[in-house]
Amino acid sequence: MTEQTTPGPTAGAAGALTGQVAFITGAGSGLGAAFARRLAADGAHVVVNDLQPAAAEAVAAEVGGDSAVFDVCDSAAFDAAIDAAVARHGRLDIVVNNAGIAPPTDPAKVQQAIANQMARMEDRIDQLVPSNSTIDLADADWDRMIRVHLYGAFHGTRAALRHMTPARSGSIVNVSSVLGLRPVAGAPHYAAAKAGIIALTKSTGQEVAPFGVRVNAVCPGWIDTPLLAPMDPMMIAGIKMQIPVGRMGRAEELAELVRFLAGPESSYCNGDVFAASGGVG
Ligand SMILES: NC(=O)c1ccc[n+]([C@@H]2O[C@H](COP(=O)([O-])OP(=O)(O)OC[C@H]3O[C@@H](n4cnc5c(N)ncnc54)[C@H](O)[C@@H]3O)[C@@H](O)[C@H]2O)c1
Repeated sequence: MTEQTTPGPTAGAAGALTGQVAFITGAGSGLGAAFARRLAADGAHVVVNDLQPAAAEAVAAEVGGDSAVFDVCDSAAFDAAIDAAVARHGRLDIVVNNAGIAPPTDPAKVQQAIANQMARMEDRIDQLVPSNSTIDLADADWDRMIRVHLYGAFHGTRAALRHMTPARSGSIVNVSSVLGLRPVAGAPHYAAAKAGIIALTKSTGQEVAPFGVRVNAVCPGWIDTPLLAPMDPMMIAGIKMQIPVGRMGRAEELAELVRFLAGPESSYCNGDVFAASGGVG
């Protein structure tokens, strides 16, 4: 775990979150980076976690925050980073458990899925070939997926609550997915991890609600970030056809929802789950 302070262009921005400290995991890229920019724009001091040091440091420099480089699967490193942020800044107001990974895409399975769709459309159900998404899932892949998402969110929630519950204040936002709300075939480990985050959110939200702490979850639909870069263009085209608004979301659109849940405007939201999915969720 490394941590450094880097004054940047939005350091000291005045806004509704001025004086508050936010800790965001996986904030070196995509959604997390957009969350960091949005919270910093309203005055929060942001601690930018990521596994990738250069990415974390670049976003931290941009938003005038700190970088904290560690793996969210490592609970001791997570505890130490949260404790260090509180020691340095004297408080912790917002934690966004966002770090995540995508299941690897297998071009052969994509082609088979497309062939199966054609067979379904032509009523050739007897010609469907099993995808074997679950049979072919290795223990290590299942384990890593659950660890990064579900263990990561648990580690962050527990470390944050140790400070927020005594302070009788704080907002935790967990990043789930529409695939946690409405799982589809193909990545059972991702769906299970994201559904677990929803249950974690509801349980901990109920636990700490009487003590001034809020825990909520966001369920993004398909958002245009580097996470989706390895996906087959045919798959992307097929996904877009199923999105009622007809396009992928932008990270900045999700950042508005996270900003709402992070701040006092969402004072009656606790243990609640919010999709932003263009109609998919
Ligand atoms: N992009 C989408 O369509 C979409 C949809 C639903 C949910 N999500 C969720 O949103 C979150 C952010 O995804 P994104 O699209 O911005 O992806 P991204 O790949 O752009 O960013 C994810 C970041 O998390 C970091 N990371 C990965 N594992 C980590 C770990 N163990 N410890 C610390 N950092 C780690 C990566 O280095 C990366 O910088 C993920 O939880 C993802 O599952 C994304």
